[in-house]
Amino acid sequence: LQEQFAEKKLKGVKVVVTAGGTKEVIDPVRFIGNRSSGKMGFAMAKIARDLGAEVTLITTVAAPFGGMNIIQIQTADEMMKQLKDIFPTTDVLIMAAAVADFKPVHVADQKIKKNDDEDIFTIKLTKNPDILQAIAATKTKHQFVVGFAAETQNLLENAEKKLSKKNADVILANNVAQVGAGFNVDTNKVTLLQKGQKPLVWPLMSKEDVARKFWKFYLDK
Ligand code: CTP
Ligand code: CA
Repeated sequence: LQEQFAEKKLKGVKVVVTAGGTKEVIDPVRFIGNRSSGKMGFAMAKIARDLGAEVTLITTVAAPFGGMNIIQIQTADEMMKQLKDIFPTTDVLIMAAAVADFKPVHVADQKIKKNDDEDIFTIKLTKNPDILQAIAATKTKHQFVVGFAAETQNLLENAEKKLSKKNADVILANNVAQVGAGFNVDTNKVTLLQKGQKPLVWPLMSKEDVARKFWKFYLDK
């Protein structure tokens, strides 16, 4: 990979990375979120940049680095809108974002007040679009799409289902219940799945090393 860095092997390649957990708006001061830190997506974006790619990072978390086009958004709907615009001119899409599966049916214009008479408050949720599935469905054979699978059980079985259902070229599966993998840590333990090929089980390593290993895989394939 040293050589690939020196030669800027991703020069001219347009890479789009999504990162962070979406924030689904309830009212002007509240949202529904998740524990994703954005670190895995950040690492994918940085290593691609260092390999010479033209990177766009669509993120819900402020990115403490530059050298790429950074678009900050909050909700799954906003992420989808950005991707619809940019995907037609994208070579590689990495969907590292933890997209909320559901969003509030109604977004209140004003801060919701608590009611003295009611101890239970209910928020009705509706499904978000599956961004990866919708975008990958429009993929041409020159485009490469990578999804993640966050699982707490039956890792391979669940990740295989996502690989075929979502029309991704690769799924990077991680067991988010395992120590040192998944949410808000600097390391990850990933298994790479591709259609019709044996899974590649990678050891626990830093998220930046996972990103290096992924881009090496991409360049060598
Ligand atoms: N994803 C997406 N849009 C959604 C939900 C997920 O694009 N509404 C993407 C994620 O960015 C990730 C992949 O789909 O790349 C898998 O996400 P995950 O949450 O593991 O799978 P789901 O399909 O949402 O299934 P479940 O949460 O029920 O396991
Ligand atoms: Ca999900």
